Amino acid sequence: MPTVAASAQKVPQSRIRELAEAAMKIEGVLKLYFGESSIPTPEYIQRAAAKALEEGYTFYTENAGLPGLRQDLADYYQRLHGVELDPRSEIVVTASGVQALHVGIRCALNPGDEALVLTPAWPNASAIIQMDNAVPVEIPHPLRNGRYLIDFDALQEAVTPRTRLLVYTSPSNPLGWVITEGEQAQLLEFARRHDLWILADEVYERLYYRSPEPGVPAPSILRQATRNDAVMVAQSFSKSYCMTGWRVGWLVARSDAGQKAAQLNEFIISHATSFIQRAAQTALAHGEDELRKMLVRLKENRDFCLAALREMPGMNVPFPDGAFYLFPKIKGLTDSFDFCWRLLHETKVGMAPGVAFGSGGEGSVRICYAAEREILEPAMERLARFLSKFSIA
Ligand SMILES: Cc1ncc(COP(=O)(O)O)c(C=O)c1O
Repeated sequence: MPTVAASAQKVPQSRIRELAEAAMKIEGVLKLYFGESSIPTPEYIQRAAAKALEEGYTFYTENAGLPGLRQDLADYYQRLHGVELDPRSEIVVTASGVQALHVGIRCALNPGDEALVLTPAWPNASAIIQMDNAVPVEIPHPLRNGRYLIDFDALQEAVTPRTRLLVYTSPSNPLGWVITEGEQAQLLEFARRHDLWILADEVYERLYYRSPEPGVPAPSILRQATRNDAVMVAQSFSKSYCMTGWRVGWLVARSDAGQKAAQLNEFIISHATSFIQRAAQTALAHGEDELRKMLVRLKENRDFCLAALREMPGMNVPFPDGAFYLFPKIKGLTDSFDFCWRLLHETKVGMAPGVAFGSGGEGSVRICYAAEREILEPAMERLARFLSKFSIA
């Protein structure tokens, strides 16, 4: 009997999914484990998809996506970052942020290569690297004086002749950490010195709270990279426009990789769904007001949860500048999966275990605060009660 290939077997199960699958079997769980808002996709985007269907966007498109959408994305970078991109070769529409990570990683790594991944991080990039028969080398962000940093000494030590890629996420899932422009410059210099690709996951760039006004994005690494730098950016419509189920995103890449990624699309999904690409164009054109409203709400939620968590004994909660997560460290906790499992079964509150996010994540839990206040308030109360009874072995 043939068995499932060892290369597939070694790809680990997402521990967020493991917890979520258990939670889905229980009625009435307060769900804070997934990275999505409880707000449905705005109606104007839904209408745009229906109109696109009526207009006949039911046929194949280019592998790289509709030229109109790629042009809109180029305009987006010009408007929000002052960056000039060639929509024909440097932008590829993908069927989600995950798929952007997929083709980006595929363009950077050969089997057996190593990729440095800054963690704690959403586990998919490391898993995709393993799917490509390459090796993720996790480098945890140290926490100093309440801020996460990049450990450049550890990065330097981890470089081997097989290292070809560095992956980081900013704004970070799960940390809420946002890279500074100084750190971006240092990373670029590091990557140039060691001949590495950088893949920046910027899917949360619009969920940034340090900006002078809501809606101003976190600075993209594309502002500092030249178009000849080996830099790629994975992006998505999921988080900014409440479109998680639509599966549409994009990759920005140096033109050789961009063109190759578009070609690889042919063999993975051919292209993102045609009428959804049209709806994505509408989201870009008309999404700013809704986005600003969402950001005000998210910031209030963040402050509410932060204050509630900081009242709980043994909680160390670094202040997050972006995304929609809090990642409190619980004093003495060594098994975050067990903690989340018991929290789920005893109180019906679902959170993601820190161990799911790789090196540096154990001992913490991830809370997504994009839910409504009616969910967050009882969730915080139940967590406080659970913690007061929870004994750390
Ligand atoms: C850091 C990060 N990157 C990428 C994604 C992928 O988003 P999607 O595949 O929904 O576009 C997510 C989703 O949670 C994420 O947290």
